[in-house]
Amino acid sequence: MAPSYAGLEVVPNPPPSPTSPLPVPIAGPVVSCAIGGVVGGVVGVVKHKHKSVQLKASPGSNISDPVPTTKPTPFSPVYKQSDLGNGIGGYDLASTADRSFAFDYDHSGKLDHIVLYRPGSGAIFIVKNYNGTFAPVYSQGSGGEGIGGYDLMSPNDRAFAFDYEHSGKLDYIAFYRGGGGTIWIIGNNNGSFFPVYSGDDGIGGYDLKSTRDRAFAFDNDHSGKLDYIAVYRPGTGTFWILGNNNGNFTPVYSQGDPGLGIGGCDLLSTKDSAFAFDYDHSGKMDHIVIYRPGKGSVWIVKHDGNIFRSAYQQWSPRDGIGGFDLTDSNDSAFTVDYDGTGKQDSLVFYRPGSGIIRILNNNNGTFVPVYGKDDSGTGIGGYDLKSTMDLGYALDYKQSGQLDHIALYRPGAGIFYIVGRL
Ligand SMILES: *[C@@H]1O[C@H](CO)[C@@H](O)[C@H](O)[C@H]1NC(C)=O
Ligand SMILES: *[C@@H]1O[C@H](CO)[C@@H](O)[C@H](O)[C@H]1NC(C)=O
Ligand SMILES: *[C@@H]1O[C@H](CO)[C@@H](O)[C@H](O)[C@H]1NC(C)=O
Ligand SMILES: *[C@@H]1O[C@H](CO)[C@@H](O)[C@H](O)[C@H]1NC(C)=O
Ligand SMILES: *[C@@H]1O[C@H](CO)[C@@H](O)[C@H](O)[C@H]1NC(C)=O
Repeated sequence: MAPSYAGLEVVPNPPPSPTSPLPVPIAGPVVSCAIGGVVGGVVGVVKHKHKSVQLKASPGSNISDPVPTTKPTPFSPVYKQSDLGNGIGGYDLASTADRSFAFDYDHSGKLDHIVLYRPGSGAIFIVKNYNGTFAPVYSQGSGGEGIGGYDLMSPNDRAFAFDYEHSGKLDYIAFYRGGGGTIWIIGNNNGSFFPVYSGDDGIGGYDLKSTRDRAFAFDNDHSGKLDYIAVYRPGTGTFWILGNNNGNFTPVYSQGDPGLGIGGCDLLSTKDSAFAFDYDHSGKMDHIVIYRPGKGSVWIVKHDGNIFRSAYQQWSPRDGIGGFDLTDSNDSAFTVDYDGTGKQDSLVFYRPGSGIIRILNNNNGTFVPVYGKDDSGTGIGGYDLKSTMDLGYALDYKQSGQLDHIALYRPGAGIFYIVGRL
């Protein structure tokens, strides 16, 4: 259904393309709207979920009436297993150690599969979405053998999806064991998993000798690919970025233990946490968000030429970000594609245990809440976020290439939700 605007007519975006017949069809909720200009000319731009359109005022019309904007679509659950639920796809989520993330199992370029694993037990499932019904394409229960030779027998095991082949696809899984120096990267040939990298001595010179070590995939060279590994040690200022040349990992950035952190951010708190982010709506995860829960501090670092510099900082004063004050030591964050543009350029900040969650859009360095502004503590899409165990991440539920859904889960309680804007 095309919305209408009092006194205004929708005109096509220039330049009109022969392949895009007029008038431009628009549908879906208005997500932003700007107005200004002269009668008879273009007075505004209305941005919808998938495209923006221009508005032209008809001569004689009264355009002082506010242009009606649809309220943002609320989130609703597309999958839910609530209290004492059964997890998802046969994985029971019955251990508080359970962790989950999105994965490109079938090399489609989409993060539309769900990995669930239990550090210390050998258990790991990869779950596929068959039209809203979830079933495993790979499963090893507790006491199982892990995956691709990686045994998952340490409680310190952590994993993330990685673009090992520079293909633009997150179709490998990197497993690491902070404190032990172990890191493996596992490939997938049609459901058959094998290691392409296995080291017990760290990687690219980074020793992985602290249980606090954390790693994630990063786009260091603005290629649009998450084919670098960022690894850091909160509390010591240690931050490394490793490039991959056919399995030969070498540092392109390294600050030892102790070190100076990155881009001016000192990383001197053991609570510091970091992840990749598309800060400038480029479609590239080439910025790093670093935040210090409990202290209100957020830093966003950009790789600019040969140096890292801050693109955003709330370190002092420590006001958090977009109204989210980050004063609880359990505050946590991840990226999401809120507008369904194919870009992970929005941030989700949440406070497990309190029901508070905000989604922030970035307007040229000003973070604006588009969800949860009132801090009502009612969670999101029916998920109450009332446990301090709650965790979340963005998921491509519709297999659309957009990480526009949010998976929320409660390890130890069997609870798993997927919420999205319908
Ligand atoms: C336009 O609409 C506004 C608000 O409804 C009204 O106050 C104003 O008098 C109108 N102006 C004209 C020129 O009709
Ligand atoms: C999913 O559901 C849609 C519509 O209900 C149907 O057209 C499609 O074939 C289904 N796909 C699979 C893989 O079951
Ligand atoms: C993958 O495995 C399935 C089922 O075992 C088989 O039908 C399919 O041909 C295989 N695909 C490739 C690319 O090997
Ligand atoms: C964003 O902010 C910068 C610096 O304040 C300014 O130069 C630039 O024009 C702004 N861009 C937009 C699109 O508003
Ligand atoms: C943070 O979470 C832990 C464990 O889940 C809990 O024991 C602690 O009370 C929480 N802290 C706050 C400030 O809520």
